[in-house]
Amino acid sequence: RTEIKDLFLFPSQFDSQEITVCGWAKSIRDHKTTAFIHLTDGSCHSPLQVVFTSELQNYADVASQNVGAAFIVKGTFKLTPDAKQPFEVEASEITIEGSSSPDYPLQKKHHSLEFLRTIPHLRTRTNTLSATFRVRSVTAYAIHKFFNEHGFVYAHTPIITTSDCEGAGEMFRVTTLDPVKPPLTESGDPDYSKDFFGKPTSLTVSGQLEAEVMALTFGKVYTFGPTFRAEQSFTARHASEFWMIEPEIAFAELQDDMDLARDMIKFVLQYVMEQCPQEMAFFNDMYDKELIQRINSVIESDFAKVTYTEAIEILEKVKDKFQYPVFWGADLQTEHERYLTEQVFKKPLFVINYPKELKAFYMRLNDDGKTVAAMDLLVPAVGEIIGGSQREERADVLEQRIRECGLNVEDYEWYLDLRRFGGTHHAGFGLGFERLIMYMTSMANIRDVIPFPRTPNNALL
Ligand code: 4AD
Ligand code: MG
Repeated sequence: RTEIKDLFLFPSQFDSQEITVCGWAKSIRDHKTTAFIHLTDGSCHSPLQVVFTSELQNYADVASQNVGAAFIVKGTFKLTPDAKQPFEVEASEITIEGSSSPDYPLQKKHHSLEFLRTIPHLRTRTNTLSATFRVRSVTAYAIHKFFNEHGFVYAHTPIITTSDCEGAGEMFRVTTLDPVKPPLTESGDPDYSKDFFGKPTSLTVSGQLEAEVMALTFGKVYTFGPTFRAEQSFTARHASEFWMIEPEIAFAELQDDMDLARDMIKFVLQYVMEQCPQEMAFFNDMYDKELIQRINSVIESDFAKVTYTEAIEILEKVKDKFQYPVFWGADLQTEHERYLTEQVFKKPLFVINYPKELKAFYMRLNDDGKTVAAMDLLVPAVGEIIGGSQREERADVLEQRIRECGLNVEDYEWYLDLRRFGGTHHAGFGLGFERLIMYMTSMANIRDVIPFPRTPNNALL
């Protein structure tokens, strides 16, 4: 059996050869004595044209099949230099492997992305979603490739955890207690000593704290895994279940962290441009005419950098443009982030040194006592795709910050130990995998870059 991908890669090698291809019909056109099938086998973006004539003994049967039907085709591969498509297969035998009924929802016409979200079991077959999920797969591989080529150890951090890394309380509880009538303590609270692990546990919001353990062993590590947040954020950029890549590097400061983020992003963009030319051309044609040009310029140019304080000064000059207020201490909203990266800097932008009140307890306090060594990477159209920082390596300052943030120091004794036993400067970041895919495909909604998205009020399939 030949994969259609190989026909596109090495067409001249197949010239006049007898081949067998398997796949599903994207369209079927019957012209009485000749008919055409556009066949896809999932191995590449472009379909193969299959042509057959009434000499085929089951002609009428095949030609009357519906879009979506599965076929096995035997025939001769022919280069067609004068036609619209570069080649076709003249079929000598077509087996109907599985028919498709006429009410197949994916007819050969344009369907809105909103409609497609209602049929998650079928939408992966469309051009847009299949291109997106192939880019997603290739991107995942590119990320592993980048870190492995740079000597990083791939660290598996737990999915069920006892700590709230971001300290924001947005965790999905994991429990075997009866949710309606849990056993109670004398004071009337659920008795977690009777729970499966003997204490409250949740799905992880970030593997960072465990990645720090591994980084202080291996020097350079990264995680790549699912992450869960019970945020009530009804936006196009937030999902309840998403994937995060979290590198962590020892003997490193904030600038090293930003250099790593930049090198990784550039490598991944370049790799996907090389490996997915059909998909990238499709997104460029269908969704954003400047996509390829923009990605190429990101690969070639440096990223911009601005402090939070400078960013606020820039935004204050045009604050009437925004819905949300701008002042020193305010969190940057998507509208602010997009203005900075799309209107002012026009390229990926690191914003560094945020007020400590806006960030998590583990970020290193700067000498001004007001800001922390944080960095967010903002990109046009999406906003924040990376959040990272240099970590607080001074045990006493860290303990103070844990208290200030209202967290329980006892829960973080093991984390403080990392500072007591050979602590070093270290830094890391979290890349939102779906946000990166949105950026590369120009998909505007995170629900369209996840095969089976989980968002508030939605867990279809
Ligand atoms: O900025 P965040 O919350 O940072 C952390 O979790 C750190 N522990 C990372 C680290 O330093 N190791 O999240 C990191 C990234 C964000 O920049 C965003 O791209 C993505 O994760 N993200 C989400 N993506 C989709 N849906 C959500 N609800 C997301 N929340 C964060
Ligand atoms: Mg963040």
